[in-house]
Order: sequence, then structure tokens, then C-alpha cells
Amino acid sequence: MLKYVSNKGGSPAVDIETAILNGYAPDGGLYVPEQLPQISAEQLAKWKPLSYQALAFEILSLFIDRSIVPAEELRAIIETAYSTFEKKEVIPIPQLKSRKNTYIMELFYGSTLSFKDVGMSFLINLINFFLKRKGEKLSVIVATTGDTGPAAASYVAGKSTLDAWVLYPKGLITDEQERQMTTLSDNNVHAVGVFNCPDGGDDLDVVIAKLFANPSFKEQVKLSSVNSLNWGRIMIQTVHYFYGYLQVADTIGEAVSMAVPSGGFGNLCGGALARKMGLPIHYFIVANNKNECLHRLFSTGVFSKKPIYETVSSAIDILIPINFWRYLYFCVDRDAEKIKAWTEEFDQTGKVQFDEKSFAAYREGFLSKSISDEKTIATIRQTFEAEAYLLDPHTAVALAATDLLKAQIGDHKVICLATAHPAKFSTILQKTLNVSTLPEAATHASIELAKRRCQKGYTADHAHLEEALLDAMETNWKQTQGNSK
Ligand SMILES: Cc1ncc(COP(=O)(O)O)c(C=O)c1O
Repeated sequence: MLKYVSNKGGSPAVDIETAILNGYAPDGGLYVPEQLPQISAEQLAKWKPLSYQALAFEILSLFIDRSIVPAEELRAIIETAYSTFEKKEVIPIPQLKSRKNTYIMELFYGSTLSFKDVGMSFLINLINFFLKRKGEKLSVIVATTGDTGPAAASYVAGKSTLDAWVLYPKGLITDEQERQMTTLSDNNVHAVGVFNCPDGGDDLDVVIAKLFANPSFKEQVKLSSVNSLNWGRIMIQTVHYFYGYLQVADTIGEAVSMAVPSGGFGNLCGGALARKMGLPIHYFIVANNKNECLHRLFSTGVFSKKPIYETVSSAIDILIPINFWRYLYFCVDRDAEKIKAWTEEFDQTGKVQFDEKSFAAYREGFLSKSISDEKTIATIRQTFEAEAYLLDPHTAVALAATDLLKAQIGDHKVICLATAHPAKFSTILQKTLNVSTLPEAATHASIELAKRRCQKGYTADHAHLEEALLDAMETNWKQTQGNSK
């Protein structure tokens, strides 16, 4: 049976159910599979005609032992997870007309209109299956820069096994994103808008880490997390890379690159591990905005934290790409001692300079770029004028990076991952397109509905967030304990 260990080496090997329900490994590391399954070219060729759901079943079966989730149950969880997606194919991949060999992987047809739905819908349904079987309940907490929170809230809403606490930096996400969390009527979803976050969403992660380091509180409210530190999110996020490649490549082995708007490296970690499993992605293009920690990492070999900038692609205003450590583990022959030493050095000094060998190992097959707001806006405008295709600001960051790196990428196919629907960013798009009425592509019925709902939720100040959460979460847990069925 495939077991899961911490990338820092200090936790016992566990099965997939424990890894997913724990969230963090007990030593504060990230769970990783003991081995990465390997997929041959013959196997990939057999998978080429599969639907997204059928492919997800095949790939997830490599990570989830049948003795823990029987095949029929896994199939049912996948079906339920994607049954509410707006498009039958789950992830459409149209080709752009204004650029050669360029495709857009539209990952935003889940209930909250971002790629987070692709991972969250499956993970929450899987957790719900485990908890129902055990007759237990969990509190899950996530910090969000705008999209993880809505996805967690939406898929947890109404599930008696779960309570969701979604923390967002007040004023640093869009009105649409905030309303997706605050207009749900279900009592098991708690949105917390946090004032005074100088480092944006990263500040919230620090507080969450403190809650996880408090064993009695953790036990009392049965705390876990469904953000991308949870292995379940990464595991399912390998699937859309396989799917995208198999849809677009004519033959297995054809060079196809993928451009990914990146912040925490959760999405790209799925892709990077898919490539290590045998998916022949040519280049990954790491697309950052002005908050360019990943670009620094991939171009200079330095992992460092710099002050945050507010940008038009606010969901990737992220300073510390936590999932890089997970990918790095597989680049340094699973040397957990090294990961532990580097993460400690980073925690103490805010900087790690990687040695030449490690740098060469992790950067192989990656290109990177940092994109200014001006370039993001120009890319949205130009693509809309050229072919009436409307990009959200994050997808535009990926497309702009692809344009700028064209000489290195070459003429082969490129898939840009479209990580959010434009309707979540109406104010920016209105300014970008300089129109009083937005085109239909920038609207969505669910966003319009949320505008007509009352908002509810908590607010707190960052300086007192830990205490505020201890109090609110304990009180809520006592009041609702025993409600799980
Ligand atoms: C729209 C959008 N694009 C890209 C990202 C970056 O994803 P990741 O943090 O996994 O790199 C996020 C979230 O962080 C997002 O919400």
C-alpha cells in the first residue's frame, strides 16, 4: 500500500486517509507519497480518449489504495464532485485565434468560478466520505487570497461532517470573491475578514500555523486544513495536467508546454509531479506578477521573502510559495534532512541560496517571468480586441509570460491555464476595457445572485486574530458538536 511521509522526515508513514484528514504532517511538514507512481507512454496512449472524470479515476487510483476507498466509492465521489460543473467536459480547452498553437485550459467552471473548485470539490467530497464512515466531524480552516476561500465555503456548505473557517485579508480581494464567502446561508461556513494584513494572505497562514501548533486546541475542535498544504489538493491537481496534455497532443511524446499563473505553487506542484510521473510536458512557464518569489527561485536559485505589492492579479499576491518545498523534496532524491534544514534556514533568515546542484535539479524544464500590471492589462485588452476572448487578470499573467518567452519556448503547442472566470474581477476589467457596461463574458449568474444577497460573517484585526479564532471556533464547536451524522 502506498504510504505518505512528511517532506521534513519527522512523522511516521501513514495511509492516504490519515494524510488527508491530518492536513499538515505532525512535524509541520507536508505529506508526500513514499514513491511517485510511474506512467508509461503506452499507458498514456490508452488514457487519451478518456473523459476528465474517467482519467481522474485512473490517476487517483494510483494514489488511493482500494482497501481504503473501494473503486465504486471512488467513482461515485468523482462523479459527485464534478456533477455541478457548468460544462459537460468539466475543463474545456479552446484554441486562441490570435496566437499560434496557443490553448486556454478553462479551469473555472465549478461553483465559485476558479481552478480551486477542481481540487476542492473532490477533496471535500472525499473528506466527507471518510468522516461519515468514521462518524466524526472536522473543523477546516483556510486562508485565501480570494479563490480558495469561496471554493472551500461552497463545497463544505451544508455538509454535516464539516465546519469551514475561511480567512481573507479585508480589502485585498474583490467584492465578488468576498460575496462568494459571505452570502451563503449555511451555518457551517464562517467567513472572517481580517483587517490590517501587511503581507496579505501570507499573514493569515502564519496565524493558522500557530493554531496547528496548539495541540489541545487542535484536538478540541478537530482542526484540519483543505488548502494546498493538504496532499489531497495536489494529488487531484495532477489530473488536469494529464487531461490537458492528452487533449491537445496529437501523439504521446509531442512537445507541449504549459503556462501557469502562480503564487503558492500548489497548482504547479501538481503539474511538476505529473511530469515526474512520466507526463512529457516540455516547459512549465512559471508566471508571477510583481510578487515574484517563484521567478527569483527559478531564475537565480534564491528563495527569499520581499515586501508585498498590491496588483491587479490579487489572487497571486503571495510571498511564500509553500508547495515549492514539496516539489523540491522530489528533486533532491527525497532528502528530508535537506528540506528540514532549508525550511529552518528560511524561517530564521527569510532567505535560502540553493547550491548549484539543487538549483539545476529543480529548475530543469522550467522557464519563468514576472509580469507587470501594465503588461497584464495590455494582454487582456489586446486579446479581447483581437478575438473577443476575455481573460481574467491571472490568466493574462500566464499568457503575457508565454508571449515574452516565445523565443525560448519555440513553435510547439502551449496551454495557458485559465485559473479564474473574468466575472470575479469586474472592476479591473471595466477599467481595462474602458467600458461602462461589461461584455457578457465578464458576467455570471451566480455573481449577480450574490449581489442581491445579505452578507454575513466575522471581522477581526490581524493583531488579535489568534485569540479571536480560538474563542469563536471553540464556542462554535461546543454549540454544534454532535450535529454530524
Ligand atoms: C485565480 C488564481 N490563479 C492562480 C493562483 C495561484 O495558484 P497557486 O497558489 O496554487 O500557485 C490562485 C491562488 O492562489 C488563484 O486564485
